[in-house]
Amino acid sequence: MEEALVVKNLKTQFFIYDGVVKALEDVTFTLNKGEVLGIVGETGCGKSVTAFSIMRLIPDPPGRIISGQIRMGNYDLMRGIDQEAEIILKKRPKIKHHNNVIKKNEHFYNKIRGRYISMIFQEPMAALNPVYTVEDQIIESIYLHSMTKILKVIKSASEHLPDLKSFRESGEIGAEFNDEVGTELSKIKNLKKGKDSVEKHLDMLIDEATKFSEKKEKYEELLKHSIEIDDLEEKLLGEVGEQERDSIISVLTKEAKKTKLNRLTKKLKKKNPDPIVSEARREALALLESVNIPNAFQILKNYPHELSGGMLQRVVIAIALSNDPQILIADEPTTALDVTIQAQILELLRDLKKNRGTSIILITHDLGVIAEMADRVVVMYAGNVVETAPSLELYHNPKHPYTIGLLQSIPRVDDPTKKLNIIRGTVPNLITPPAGCRFNPRCQFAFDRCLVEVPPTIETSEGHTVACHLFTGKEVR
Ligand SMILES: Nc1ncnc2c1ncn2[C@@H]1O[C@H](COP(=O)(O)OP(=O)(O)O)[C@@H](O)[C@H]1O
Ligand SMILES: [Mg+2]
Repeated sequence: MEEALVVKNLKTQFFIYDGVVKALEDVTFTLNKGEVLGIVGETGCGKSVTAFSIMRLIPDPPGRIISGQIRMGNYDLMRGIDQEAEIILKKRPKIKHHNNVIKKNEHFYNKIRGRYISMIFQEPMAALNPVYTVEDQIIESIYLHSMTKILKVIKSASEHLPDLKSFRESGEIGAEFNDEVGTELSKIKNLKKGKDSVEKHLDMLIDEATKFSEKKEKYEELLKHSIEIDDLEEKLLGEVGEQERDSIISVLTKEAKKTKLNRLTKKLKKKNPDPIVSEARREALALLESVNIPNAFQILKNYPHELSGGMLQRVVIAIALSNDPQILIADEPTTALDVTIQAQILELLRDLKKNRGTSIILITHDLGVIAEMADRVVVMYAGNVVETAPSLELYHNPKHPYTIGLLQSIPRVDDPTKKLNIIRGTVPNLITPPAGCRFNPRCQFAFDRCLVEVPPTIETSEGHTVACHLFTGKEVR
């Protein structure tokens, strides 16, 4: 199994008036490539804080990642975090230096977010800007991260212009195109939205390609420039020296300024938009169609408040997917939706894993959702990972008393009259968590050691680990 994301000994806290909230104490898990990893636990166990820490979206103040490692392939997602904390902790930071460091880290993280890791939230409205249409928001996301891809598609379309036109007329492709536009065409054909939709996409592509040919030199130049920027970004994500990093960031900052949403919307409103904007618009349409949005063309023109919850969540998923991220974190994505819509959204996530090979972290308090969706499960309790196992193994052979309690509190479909065993008590206040095992006040098997000693994590069988004093065996951490 290849690892997509490794989280090790992650510790995140919130410094509030009442004290220090020890939200994450020691969170360790691995997301493998192409799998759905479920994270489950009651409300307040640290699931969202885990997701926000990975996305580097913990608000500071009051929150801070204290220690730990987060790695995505070769990229260290914790880079600069100590430096950042040090500055914020200093009583009188030199403002300019402070801003520079934070800005640098922001730049690095803006590249990661959206392009490599995307996140969708329980409340889709929160991810959208109410004053822009769906189209503007998807296009912004595509435009910010995928300029090179867009230019390559249009360039290739301009080279295949006669073929595209005859395909538009006859419905037959003469030649197979083995490049960007070929990939786009096969995507378009797979949309299963019928002939009208395919023709619409083709018309748009032909139009863009024609404009590209008219100003070929200008766009070739732009493409070259865009490839250079991509190379810089790629470099920035790898291991580079401090000085090189600074100069890369200053180039990227200038570029970033050119792609602000306001400028973009102005461009969009022009009668004769740039082919880059029209291709981004066409991709936005294809994306909405790929997440099964009916009347995608109309929906693009809508503002967020004009759409239903289920439709909004699809739009948010479409935006999250716009740059084909390697990792998608879905934090209770269906909790706010009704049951039928819930099933459709889960189906969408399943397709995503199957068709795009996206690695998914699916956060939920619902073990039923996990059973249906996840390959492996991480069980969290009060800021710790208490058990990790393949889903089937977890259901048939749960080890941790907390996991057993959670499983017993799922309503039974076969016998709804059966009284549920709800775990007694509640998740503790994490300002003053219990000593030893944080679950001890609620655990019917707790003995003296549980009250004083944090349990080590034991591997009970391959891929199945548990952090509980009831088990002995090979300690993995
Ligand atoms: N901004 C914040 N300020 C203070 N405490 C917070 C903040 N965000 C989360 N917490 C605390 O962190 C703990 C974990 O919360 P969270 O990750 O949201 O739980 P879950 O997503 O599993 O329901 C809780 O005790 C919560 O109160
Ligand atoms: Mg949450």
